[in-house]
Amino acid sequence: MIRWETDDDHHDVREVHARAFGANARVPGLVEALRTAEAALVPVSLVAVVDDRVVGHVLLSATRLDAPRRIVDVLSLSPLGVLPEFQGQGIGTRLVARALETAEGQGVPLVFLEGSPLYYGARGFDAAGPLGFRSPSLRIPEAAFQVARLSAHEPWMTGTFVYSEPFWAFDCVGLRDPGA
Ligand SMILES: CC(C)(COP(=O)(O)OP(=O)(O)OC[C@H]1O[C@@H](n2cnc3c(N)ncnc32)[C@H](O)[C@@H]1OP(=O)(O)O)[C@@H](O)C(=O)NCCC(=O)NCCS
Repeated sequence: MIRWETDDDHHDVREVHARAFGANARVPGLVEALRTAEAALVPVSLVAVVDDRVVGHVLLSATRLDAPRRIVDVLSLSPLGVLPEFQGQGIGTRLVARALETAEGQGVPLVFLEGSPLYYGARGFDAAGPLGFRSPSLRIPEAAFQVARLSAHEPWMTGTFVYSEPFWAFDCVGLRDPGA
């Protein structure tokens, strides 16, 4: 079952990301910061529940597209996590689908993310660069920068995708090169 997160889920959601992302210990803190950040759009925070247990979580939070005509409020899908022992059962797929349905229902034109094109390419996302969108960081591999265009999207809505402050504060943009 996929449902909206409640305050009572915060501890379980933290656990989901701590275990799903393992080495990237910044992700649970990012989620907490995004929940409370002042933003133009209310975050969409969904949990997957199996036998009353929270086993997956996805967050959509407000970000911006710096388009030629004006700034457009868009959403970023990040993070998406499923407990390791529940992976490979379609839970991530259902969380992404519900997240996009919710964004569509709210009239949001675009949802951006960084991630595997193999995974997200089959789940409603396209490579953003060839569609005229600019990445917010040189550290994001070109193929990882993806976007879902929803029905409110209009052709003039191109430009640079701009992350909200918490993504920078938690250093959760792109990949770092420790040898650089
Ligand atoms: C990525 C993740 C959310 C997928 O959730 P899931 O419930 O296992 O996904 P589903 O069961 O819906 O889909 C499974 C498919 O995803 C693929 N997959 C899982 N992780 C992947 C990854 N990191 N990159 C590419 N493909 C991946 C599996 O190989 C499988 O492919 P198939 O359908 O062709 O067999 C989950 O593996 C996870 O939490 N990973 C750790 C955190 C993470 O990397 N999050 C994504 C950040 S953008």
